[in-house]
Amino acid sequence: MKIAVIGGGSTYTPELVKGFLERTAQLPLRELWLMDVDQHRLAIVGGFVQRMVEAQGHPFRVVLTTDRREALAGAAYVCTQLRVGQMEARRQDEYLARRHGLIGQETTGVGGLAKALRTIPVILDIAREMKAVAPDAWLINFTNPAGLIVEALNRYIPEVRAVGVCNVPYTAKIQFLALLKESTGREIAPGQAELKTLGLNHLTWHYGLAIEGEDFWPYVLRAFIQKVRGQEHPEWEPRYLESTRMIPNYYLHYYYHTDEKLHEQVHWPPSRAEQVMQIETQLLKQYADPTRVDLPPDLMRRGGAYYSTVATQLISAHYNNLGEVHVVNVPHRGAVKEWDAQWVLELPARISRQGIEPLPAQPLPPFAFGLVTTVKAYEILTVRAAAEGDVEAAYQALITHPLGPRLNRAEAVLEDILATNWPFLLQF
Ligand code: G6P
Ligand code: MN
Repeated sequence: MKIAVIGGGSTYTPELVKGFLERTAQLPLRELWLMDVDQHRLAIVGGFVQRMVEAQGHPFRVVLTTDRREALAGAAYVCTQLRVGQMEARRQDEYLARRHGLIGQETTGVGGLAKALRTIPVILDIAREMKAVAPDAWLINFTNPAGLIVEALNRYIPEVRAVGVCNVPYTAKIQFLALLKESTGREIAPGQAELKTLGLNHLTWHYGLAIEGEDFWPYVLRAFIQKVRGQEHPEWEPRYLESTRMIPNYYLHYYYHTDEKLHEQVHWPPSRAEQVMQIETQLLKQYADPTRVDLPPDLMRRGGAYYSTVATQLISAHYNNLGEVHVVNVPHRGAVKEWDAQWVLELPARISRQGIEPLPAQPLPPFAFGLVTTVKAYEILTVRAAAEGDVEAAYQALITHPLGPRLNRAEAVLEDILATNWPFLLQF
């Protein structure tokens, strides 16, 4: 089996490779192709990965390339984890938002819009190339904004089977299991528990935890409420948790606690991109050490920790026809009867050789649905703007997003996004 990683020079790649090394018994991986446009990074990250694989008895071959077509050809799975414009573009997004008094964030708000405009054309190109040289492959996308990217793939190139992944549902599950252990003494492995969660990527609500068919949510919720009540500054208002009986994805802080989040930006630098740049400098130094064959602990300072677990579990569940339930981003195809079946949602789905079957779920209640439907409208406009170079769609996306500018500032923000990102946009 061949697996291709597009954006193979990412500092996350060694974590992904560790995941593959841990699953050699389940996955007959023979060739791992790492492709990147940044030859320098690819050489450092790839060199480290080759030593990691060597140290484990060389169960598969690692090939480094800057030739995307060659990397994709004949692959069974394609993992996309690229960042158009690299970390500097993310930094620009953050400061662009700040200079207009808006939230400066990688995926949520105008930063997510700019990133989508840069990224979607490249991902659609990759999918077109896959149709030609790897028509049976699955595309597993970790590139942000992950939900929007699958929304674009499904609308423009539905023949390619694409699934979006995020580590938040997995880290939330681990967090809830730890709470359960503290409060009831029961120790449950993540594989035994199913998290119920619904919404859009980075805009979900967690509302259940099933362990062998039994619902443990009341215990989790009670323990969580108790925890926040004990915090000097509760991360969520207890009243909200009691009233809704749901726990929001932490990205919802940008919507619910906008003022606090804006206030944090006053203290930049360093913004998150600047912090990450520093962590990455350290990581690359450690990867370049010819004696190192294990993952540096600094990797856990990145928000995407456990991405490899999520991606490799998904591949194994598909390849080995396991019928496991994992949280993914796919068109829900009527799983939530009341919602447009074409919408890409983040929700639990059964994964087997047949494909991905989203599990039926009740629609979110009105307090949450209002936000979901607005952000989905923004996503659909953004996808059109990115895929077709449609400036009016970009403008309308901007005025639809709840964290976007007031109307009298919208044109200026749009002009700034276009001017800052012009080398990467179809609009030019
Ligand atoms: C979480 C999100 C990812 C995001 C990451 C940011 O893991 O799920 O989508 O990219 O955080 O982490 P970073 O270390 O880049 O700030
Ligand atoms: Mn994510």
